[in-house]
Amino acid sequence: MSTSAVSRGIKVKRSYGERFRKALVETGAFDAKRKIRSDDSNIFLPVHEIDDEAAARLRLISDFEFLETEFLPEEHFPTPEELLGFRPSFEIVGDIAIAEEVETNVVEADAGAAAEAEGKAKAEGEATTDNETKEEENADAQQIEQIASALMATNRSIRTVIVPISDVEGEFRTRRFRHVAGEERTTTIHKEHGLRYRIDLQRAYFTPRLGTERLRVAKQIRQGDTVLDMFAGVGPFAFLMAKKGARVIAMDKNPVAVKYMRENARLNKIEDIEILEGDANELALSYADTADHVIMNLPHSASQFLIPAMKAAKSGGIIHYYAISPEDALYGDWAMIAQAAERVGAKAEVVYQGVVRSYAPHRLNVVIDFRVDKSQKGLFLDPPQRHRI
Ligand SMILES: C[S@@+](CC[C@H](N)C(=O)[O-])C[C@H]1O[C@@H](n2cnc3c(N)ncnc32)[C@H](O)[C@@H]1O
Repeated sequence: MSTSAVSRGIKVKRSYGERFRKALVETGAFDAKRKIRSDDSNIFLPVHEIDDEAAARLRLISDFEFLETEFLPEEHFPTPEELLGFRPSFEIVGDIAIAEEVETNVVEADAGAAAEAEGKAKAEGEATTDNETKEEENADAQQIEQIASALMATNRSIRTVIVPISDVEGEFRTRRFRHVAGEERTTTIHKEHGLRYRIDLQRAYFTPRLGTERLRVAKQIRQGDTVLDMFAGVGPFAFLMAKKGARVIAMDKNPVAVKYMRENARLNKIEDIEILEGDANELALSYADTADHVIMNLPHSASQFLIPAMKAAKSGGIIHYYAISPEDALYGDWAMIAQAAERVGAKAEVVYQGVVRSYAPHRLNVVIDFRVDKSQKGLFLDPPQRHRI
């Protein structure tokens, strides 16, 4: 049932309606929850508060009048795409929207490709002038502000919009961000699979894009299993496994991630978890032959941790191994897994392999689940057939 209500709006001449609507979206003042209406000569646009600066910008289009009038509630809430006229790329973590500038739409992609392209352009004598660069930067900044306004207008739970200004980088796999709109912060609380995670996106790794993968691993956990999460971050794999009844040992080298992990244990009232700060290469060695499952979510360099992971696994235990692979050799890391198994005198047998998500052009985040059999020292299987799943 739809009811009308009196709320704030502006009255503009019909011929200027679309220009005003666009400007309101760009300034974040358009009230997308209410319907635009019109009479023979005017358009009435529902608005939130309009500050002096935004009002001055609107007056550049044409004169307009503020008024309080009846606007019907919008039954079909417009999407950001409908407001903007193009599909923005963004993800939501808690009440923060991480928007992507158009040319950086590939999340976590290498900066290398962009640098290479720039270098090539320069070599070909196509160096852009300072003015052109400035214009492009202004256009980018304007576009990201429009995206931010559209996101906030269409999703009232978004309080902050930020944009990454670096790739996921360094040992702790963090990103730097620029604030674009709303409250100036990178901390939030994100809900996933019934658990809450306090996060600082700039100081510890977290992505909601692994939510489905975490569920896939959780389905394999049985009550009483021991799970070793070698690269636990703020704990999204670890706590889900604990919720399934596992005894969990979760470690991370980033002190900030560990601080949040401890806080998240309290937040979710999870007690059967041991949280450790330090290098997984050393810490895992204290858990020899104990783990039913070892989670190795450090896709760029997990291969350097295979020996301690295999030592920590029980005979028959499963290791969940993540990698970033080129699309023509998705499971190429298997050779390193087989070698490491040989070194610890175990046999490794693949039980599942699949693509988790795309990562960058022609590069994919893949998982290999493999069983470690320590009962027949010295043997290991031939690499499995590679196939895309
Ligand atoms: C890709 S993140 C994964 C975090 C978490 N599993 C998740 O899904 O959100 C990898 C984590 O490994 C941690 N790390 C990097 N090197 C490490 C090491 N040598 N020992 C322990 N943790 C490490 C980083 O600080 C980061 O939090």
